[in-house]
Amino acid sequence: MTIQQRTLGTTSPLTVSALGLGCMGMSEFYGTPDEQGGIETIHRALDLGVTFLDTADMYGPFTNERLVGRAIAARRDEVQLATKFGNQRTEDGTRLGINGRPEYVRAACDASLMRLGVDHIDLYYQHRVDFTVPIEETVGAMKELVEAGKVRHLGLSEAGADTIRRAHAVHPITALQSEYSLFTRDLEDDILPVVRELGIGLVPYSPLGRGILTGRLTQGSLADGDSRASAYFPRLNGDNLDANLALVRAVTEIAERLDCTPGQLALAWVLAQGDDVAPIPGTKRVRYLEENVGAHAVRLTDEDLAALERAVPRGSVAGDRYGDMSSIDA
Ligand SMILES: NC(=O)c1ccc[n+]([C@@H]2O[C@H](COP(=O)([O-])OP(=O)(O)OC[C@H]3O[C@@H](n4cnc5c(N)ncnc54)[C@H](OP(=O)(O)O)[C@@H]3O)[C@@H](O)[C@H]2O)c1
Repeated sequence: MTIQQRTLGTTSPLTVSALGLGCMGMSEFYGTPDEQGGIETIHRALDLGVTFLDTADMYGPFTNERLVGRAIAARRDEVQLATKFGNQRTEDGTRLGINGRPEYVRAACDASLMRLGVDHIDLYYQHRVDFTVPIEETVGAMKELVEAGKVRHLGLSEAGADTIRRAHAVHPITALQSEYSLFTRDLEDDILPVVRELGIGLVPYSPLGRGILTGRLTQGSLADGDSRASAYFPRLNGDNLDANLALVRAVTEIAERLDCTPGQLALAWVLAQGDDVAPIPGTKRVRYLEENVGAHAVRLTDEDLAALERAVPRGSVAGDRYGDMSSIDA
């Protein structure tokens, strides 16, 4: 199967594989980290044409960028490499908060380049907006990184409409990376219209709803220590999880009719939202990656999209997506 390509951003365009690969779970948060599985998954992804790789300095912390760097060392030219700064952590994992100060932006970028073992980053995102620093100052520092050749394109994550406009006025923003899936459609009211007006691409993260939309996450299936089992993810726990699994069953029924898996259907729905959208499903397993790539073959008719709308009406998902939304600029 040929993986399609899509172009993010019109003023500072970056062409990526339509389906990317989220690397976060290879190092932290979702069950037991698996470095070797992660490296094999990245190699298989590149073989299949999934070349848009997503990491961040805070994943691990720091170990995910090193893992990605090792995996792509002999194949750098095949990759569109995206990483992020701003969620400041120490080596031992302590969270120091959000930092968008210009001097920190410069230091974080140099450290990421070193860990990734590359001379430039294709897409550099601010991971969360720092409400204590004017966005013009943060993006001003990011712009200098482009001018220095360390970074090719700029992105924001979980930024609100006004922040996006102000940032884009300082330097063209190529992509907004925010949560978007059948289960999380908050962007559609205020943010999607703005990114489309400005010609900014959308990179949906957690397009599988952190795994629930695959039908393989069930009550009690998350291992001890998996962050999704914590109060930080209200949708994936307790009564909310029971209610949300009923929605997944409705998605699964449609998937069976279309002869695909629920995860493939969820990814096909995201891919169907526009040619300016490139989701980054995460996995540390070759088997899951191969399944997810199959989403490309799922063609949804208007009738299928309407059936999905009935199966998961907007607002029907129980619980907030994060237990603490205070760092989201919405
Ligand atoms: N900007 C941000 O603030 C932000 C926040 C979260 C994530 N991200 C990025 O977005 C990427 C993707 O998001 P995500 O990882 O949170 O959520 P996701 O892609 O919605 O789901 C990932 C989870 O689904 C499981 N999975 C994937 N494919 C599967 C399949 N075919 N069958 C069964 N299970 C499957 C994975 O399992 P295994 O782990 O067992 O492989 C993993 O636990 C991350 O890797 C990260 O790079 C960014």
